This record gives sequence, C-alpha cells and structure tokens, in this order.
Amino acid sequence: MGVGGYLLLPWRFLVVLSLRLLFLLPTGVPVRSGDATFPKAMDNVTVRQGESATLRCTVDARVTRVAWLNRSTILYAGNDKWSIDPRVVIVANTKTQYSIMIQDVDVYDEGPYTCSVQTDNHPKTSRVHLIVQVPPQIMNISSDITVNEGSSVTLLCLAIGRPEPTVTWRHLSVKEGQGFVSEDEYLEISGITRDQSGEYECSALNDVAAPDVRKVKITVNYPPYISNAKNTGVSLGQKGILRCEASAVPLAEFQWFKEETRLATGLDGVRIENKGRMSTLTFFNVSEKDYGNYTCVATNKLGITNASITLYGPGAVIDGVSSASRALACLWLLGTLFVHFFIKF
Ligand SMILES: *[C@@H]1O[C@H](CO)[C@@H](O)[C@H](O)[C@H]1NC(C)=O
Ligand SMILES: *[C@@H]1O[C@H](CO)[C@@H](O)[C@H](O)[C@H]1NC(C)=O
Ligand SMILES: *[C@@H]1O[C@H](CO)[C@@H](O)[C@H](O)[C@H]1NC(C)=O
Ligand SMILES: *[C@@H]1O[C@H](CO)[C@@H](O)[C@H](O)[C@H]1NC(C)=O
Ligand SMILES: *[C@@H]1O[C@H](CO)[C@@H](O)[C@H](O)[C@H]1NC(C)=O
Ligand SMILES: *[C@@H]1O[C@H](CO)[C@@H](O)[C@H](O)[C@H]1NC(C)=O
Repeated sequence: MGVGGYLLLPWRFLVVLSLRLLFLLPTGVPVRSGDATFPKAMDNVTVRQGESATLRCTVDARVTRVAWLNRSTILYAGNDKWSIDPRVVIVANTKTQYSIMIQDVDVYDEGPYTCSVQTDNHPKTSRVHLIVQVPPQIMNISSDITVNEGSSVTLLCLAIGRPEPTVTWRHLSVKEGQGFVSEDEYLEISGITRDQSGEYECSALNDVAAPDVRKVKITVNYPPYISNAKNTGVSLGQKGILRCEASAVPLAEFQWFKEETRLATGLDGVRIENKGRMSTLTFFNVSEKDYGNYTCVATNKLGITNASITLYGPGAVIDGVSSASRALACLWLLGTLFVHFFIKF
C-alpha cells in the first residue's frame, strides 16, 4: 500500500501526521504497514464486553521508539500515557515486547489499533483489530396473551448481541423438531386455532454464549364442546353416576336438566359436582322415577352446547357391562378349577 492509500482515508492520514510529530520524521518517508516480519502485532483480538484485552507487539533491540494508537489517537508512546482513559494501562515495555491492556472493554472500543515502532529511523506499523463480542440478550418480548379463536396474533422478541443474534420462535406444545414457527423476531399467526395455544419460546442465539430464552403463553378461548357423555345403566337401589365432559376455554360451567326441570344438589337425592372439564350427576339411591333422559348443558362466554344422556335400568342391553361380567365369571370358573386341581393332587 502506497502513500496515496493513506491520503484517501482521513484517520490514516492523521496516524501518519501524529507519527511524524512523535518521531519528527522527515516528510516524504512513507510509513509502511503489513511488513511481513516486523514489527509483529498479534492477529485480531476477540474479547467479550466487560473483559480485558491485551494488545501485544513484538519488538527487538534495534527498536528506538514505540507507540500504540487507537485509530488516529495515541494511547501510549513508550512509557508515556497519552490516553486519558483510565482503562488503558501499559503491561510491558521490554526489549522484546510492547503491550498495553484495555480493561472493561465496551463495544465502542471495537476497531483497528496500531502498533508503531521506529527502527534505524524507519517507522513501521502493524495493525490489529479489536473485536468485541456481546452475549445474546432478549431486551423486549411480548407479554402473555389471551385471544379468541380465529383472531390474529403477533408476538415480538427483540434481542441484542454481537454478532447480531438469530432469533427464532418455537411452539413448545408441538413435538420436538416440528415446533419452529418463525425464524424471525416477529411471530405472526392469523386465524389462530385452539391447537395453537400454549407456550411459545423465543430464543436469541449467537456463538458468544448460551442462547437467551424466554417464554410467552398464548391462551386461545373457544366455545364448549362436549367430548364425553355416555349413557349409563344402574340397578334400582344402587348409586348411579352420569358424567359429562366438555372442553372449553375458559372452562365451561355446567347445568343438568331432566326434561325442562333444572336439577340441583340436595334436591331429589342427587348431587352435582364440577371439576375442571368434568361434571358429574350422582344419584345416591336410584329409583324407578330416576330412569330417563338427562341433558347436560355446558356454557362459557363464547357459547353454549348440550348433550343428552340416558340413565337406564337392568333389562336394557349394554355390551360393555355384560362382557365384563362374562369375563369375571370365566375367571372365577378357572380359579375354582385350579383350586380343585391342587386339592386332588
Ligand atoms: C481482522 O479483522 C478485520 C476487521 O474485522 C478483518 O477485515 C480482517 O480480515 C481480520 N484479520 C484476520 C487475520 O482475521
Ligand atoms: C477508541 O476509539 C473510539 C473512537 O474514538 C473510542 O470510542 C474508544 O473509547 C477508544 N478506546 C480506547 C480504549 O481508547
Ligand atoms: C417493547 O416493544 C413495544 C413494541 O415495539 C414497545 O411498545 C415497548 O415500549 C417496548 N418496551 C421496552 C421495554 O422496550
Ligand atoms: C333406597 O330407596 C329404597 C326405596 O325408597 C329404600 O327402601 C332403601 O332403603 C334405600 N337404600 C338406601 C341405601 O338408602
Ligand atoms: C331419550 O333419548 C333417546 C335418544 O336421545 C330417545 O330415543 C328416547 O326416546 C328418549 N326417551 C325419553 C323418555 O325421552
Ligand atoms: C340443546 O341444544 C339444542 C340445539 O342445539 C336446543 O334446541 C335445545 O333447546 C338445547 N336443550 C337445552 C336443555 O338447552
């Protein structure tokens, strides 16, 4: 690189100027850089924000003057500190090494630093880039949100870091590996469904440190849907239970009717219990008048639905129960035979 190259860039021009002032160079002597053998500064220095960076320059006995510069500003010339920054300290000025340290490095310290030496009246420079890394950190993320099914949702996750972190969104309720929903700071869902409710994880990743991870919960409201309401058979004088299960967000409230009459705990020997998605109607002692059709009504703020459930007595054919008792009878028979077998022998 020739003199012209330096003149094009103002700061380099200033480096030349300040070096000339420092070493009282005759004008017209070019400052060479990139000398393959000497002076030798290290490769680029990479440190994390807050750490210390040591800038080393290898010298030898022929060297008469040394300096470290930040861009065009002299930090140290020999043992003399020119910088007013208390974070800059000298760590070595020997026959073989000239090194300074920058403590508590911040992002604005990033850039080129120049080691400048004078040997036999020839100035030489060597450049090292200080690279400052910052672990990923999520600065701003959407709060948990509740929406009605069908609406549109946008989640935001803003992260800082150096290098710039990659931000991804993952739906945690979905199986591992299939959950990536956005490779972007924004997660947009239009016409959200109940299956898309749950936790979403924003992850900000760069290669400096472990990713920063935060979670946002989306609650999707939807009207009740009765998923389980089975007809039930009970003998006279027994305890009978009718079950009605409804999925809904928010959770459904339940009511039980027989024909037009609303049932309530304590009336007619029944008890109604609601627990989460399930409502049960219990008959303590089933009598003839209890047999018949019941209606379970499930309501939340988005809608209402109902299902009819029959309480029936013996004589009605129920596959489940009869096959279960047949199996029991069979087991009992086998057990009896077994016992007889051992008593005999
Ligand atoms: C040092 O960093 C600068 C600026 O980032 C880059 O242009 C240069 O290639 C790097 N040199 C080495 C040896 O990594
Ligand atoms: C290096 O120069 C930059 C730009 O002028 C400045 O912000 C930074 O504080 C300097 N760092 C040191 C260690 O001198
Ligand atoms: C986060 O981002 C939102 C939307 O851009 C903005 O309204 C809010 O002020 C930000 N909060 C913080 C703490 O930066
Ligand atoms: C159930 O009701 C019948 C008729 O009302 C009565 O005879 C019987 O004792 C009751 N059984 C129980 C356990 O309360
Ligand atoms: C009960 O409901 C079933 C079907 O839902 C119907 O066939 C039957 O006639 C109803 N019985 C009464 C007594 O209403
Ligand atoms: C059950 O739902 C049907 C139709 O959705 C409606 O006609 C009926 O009145 C409802 N019954 C009760 C008891 O709410």
